Amino acid sequence: MRDLIFKKDALYKLSANYVPERLPRREEHQAEIFRTIISFLEEKMPIKAIVLNGPSGTGKTVTVKKSAEQILKYCKEKGIKIEYRHLNTRFASSDFTLAQMIALSLLPNMPSRGYSSRELLYAVFDYLEKSGNSFLLVLDDFDDFIGEVRSKFFTDLLKISEEYGDRVKLILVLIGIQDFSRWIKDSWLTHFMLRMRKSFTPYDAEEISMILKDRVELSFNTNVIDDPTIYLIGRMTERFGYGSARYALELLLMSGLNASYEGSQRIFAEHVREAQYRLESVISPTDLKAMFSQDPEMSKLLKKLLAAFESSEEPFLSLKLLEEYGIKIRESSVIERLKRLHLEGLLDYNQQQREVALIGMPLKLLQSVFD
Ligand SMILES: Nc1ncnc2c1ncn2[C@@H]1O[C@H](COP(=O)(O)OP(=O)(O)OP(=O)(O)O)[C@@H](O)[C@H]1O
Ligand SMILES: [Mg+2]
Repeated sequence: MRDLIFKKDALYKLSANYVPERLPRREEHQAEIFRTIISFLEEKMPIKAIVLNGPSGTGKTVTVKKSAEQILKYCKEKGIKIEYRHLNTRFASSDFTLAQMIALSLLPNMPSRGYSSRELLYAVFDYLEKSGNSFLLVLDDFDDFIGEVRSKFFTDLLKISEEYGDRVKLILVLIGIQDFSRWIKDSWLTHFMLRMRKSFTPYDAEEISMILKDRVELSFNTNVIDDPTIYLIGRMTERFGYGSARYALELLLMSGLNASYEGSQRIFAEHVREAQYRLESVISPTDLKAMFSQDPEMSKLLKKLLAAFESSEEPFLSLKLLEEYGIKIRESSVIERLKRLHLEGLLDYNQQQREVALIGMPLKLLQSVFD
């Protein structure tokens, strides 16, 4: 039976592993990585490490994967022989396990036991020299490795690389949340590290909306979710999810599942709020009741807001509409309370756009506060 909400393969297309066609707001990052790596490939420099860092969910991994696709295509056209591996080093607990991961990724049949980490790296260089391939090696989540291990990895790698001279070309891409190039004090090593100029910063609500719209088209049937509801996810991500696209995609998927379980043909704001509340509750009914006992006027205001939210399926309500529900939006005490509810995370109150959304809990839960 055809699903009311999801298209085929939607779960995959909303997953963290999926590499989309386009990367809104990361085109320039992709271009910079591409250009830098190509220039290293075409230079005489035998080894170079590109360092890339930024908060979680800001697209580091996916942008490097996309640049790598582009590089492989370029190399194919130019007849440049290249091997590419993208390894997650989160679980590499020593220089040895890291060297083992790298060696096995290129030489899967190599018996890695009984070798030291240096010997494993020699095996990698031998292989690259014989095959005449350059090697683009991405080490992802690398700050965990550098942070936990007193590593001689780079020193070994550079020394071995010197022995092979420009017969073997190795380009490293090191990805992490922290800027670990700063932790490395040895100037001999820092010389090989190059930080990218474009930084990976948290996405704002508009950027998240752009990213989500592409995925919505891939994963959902037509008219399942409208733009204001996508923007609602963007606002929640900006405010509660540290601007992480991973958080936004998870919210989108969970909202879709909520709608699907209910047999709804559309994702409404309430499905999104339920998903958000389940991911992480920012404010609870108990918090609200505590607020009311300090400020009884707050309770009256919220009751009116509740009536307004119940009246409409729109995620964002204009202040004009609120007036129809008896909310005196011209009174400074009302404005102050709206601002307070914004700060507490219950509302998203946009003073410029003159609109308000309920974001901190599902409407059903807010209703229960007044039962
Ligand atoms: N600009 C973008 N366009 C489309 N999808 C994006 C974009 N940025 C991030 N994503 C998606 O968001 C999710 C998280 O991105 P990614 O894994 O690249 O983040 P990250 O910076 O590597 O985070 P972490 O540090 O936690 O590993 C992935 O599913 C990715 O495809
Ligand atoms: Mg990543």
